[in-house]
Amino acid sequence: MNETLKILQKRRSVRAFSDKALTEEQVSLIKDATLRAPTAGNMALYSVVEVHDQSKKELLAKYCDNQPMIAKAPLVWVFLADMQKWVNYFTEGGSREKGEKEGLASWRDPALGDLHLCMQDAIIAAQNAVVAAESLGIGSCYIGDVIENFEGVRDLLQLKQYTVPACMLIFGHPKSEPTGKQTPRCPQEAIFMRDSYQSPTLEQLESAFSEHEQRRRDSKVLPFNNTGSIADHYYFKKHTSDFMEEMNRSTKVMFDHWCKG
Ligand SMILES: Cc1cc2nc3c(=O)[nH]c(=O)nc-3n(C[C@H](O)[C@H](O)[C@H](O)COP(=O)(O)O)c2cc1C
Repeated sequence: MNETLKILQKRRSVRAFSDKALTEEQVSLIKDATLRAPTAGNMALYSVVEVHDQSKKELLAKYCDNQPMIAKAPLVWVFLADMQKWVNYFTEGGSREKGEKEGLASWRDPALGDLHLCMQDAIIAAQNAVVAAESLGIGSCYIGDVIENFEGVRDLLQLKQYTVPACMLIFGHPKSEPTGKQTPRCPQEAIFMRDSYQSPTLEQLESAFSEHEQRRRDSKVLPFNNTGSIADHYYFKKHTSDFMEEMNRSTKVMFDHWCKG
């Protein structure tokens, strides 16, 4: 196995960090790798807010479903889907006026397609950062809850109409060597489909997630006194949880903010 594949295979999320700061050189290397990610039309439809201010980190930890590790992370990056810079550039650079005056194009407000593309850019760039960090021995973890409490995050980071959080990463040196097995994954045939979508049968789902189920069973966290299935676990702990309710509320506000200002 080559070095790249080895790094991809051994990566795991790291949530406990040592106090050791990342060096400027390490951060710069991760930034360069982030920037080399593919980007739609080479427009860099994303920006990254690097959060240094400790009080902001603490508020982010609170907004992100109370995850204290965020406040303790040496490096915190919020990836934004960013069409604002192009709206500004089109406007201030005169393209918008030229289009109108010369009858070449009428102005179009960025809409959901633009948002989707910007999100793709941001998330692809983030994954480059994860892999680059891993290659330097630096751990990372995505924080999906950054899409909760949109109003709070918007005000905290002074977001504009066409900048919304796509994802968030925390980085740091792992506090200790990882112990235990990596998290399981579904087998290839449960994920990759040929030519069209094929709805998995119940049997196939049970088989695909059997390792996940066993792991949860071993750690005695399944519902109904550990007799529940992995589906019960995700259904009751995630799918019908308060935080998913909040994510959906917040994302609606976020998308309205993008579309309506
Ligand atoms: C979109 C996304 C959101 C995530 N959000 C969180 C989070 O808010 N908190 C957390 O501790 N881990 C979070 N994770 C990490 C996952 O829990 C982790 O990737 C998963 O359990 C598999 O473990 P592994 O990364 O160690 O392989 C997130 C991962 C992704 C991809």
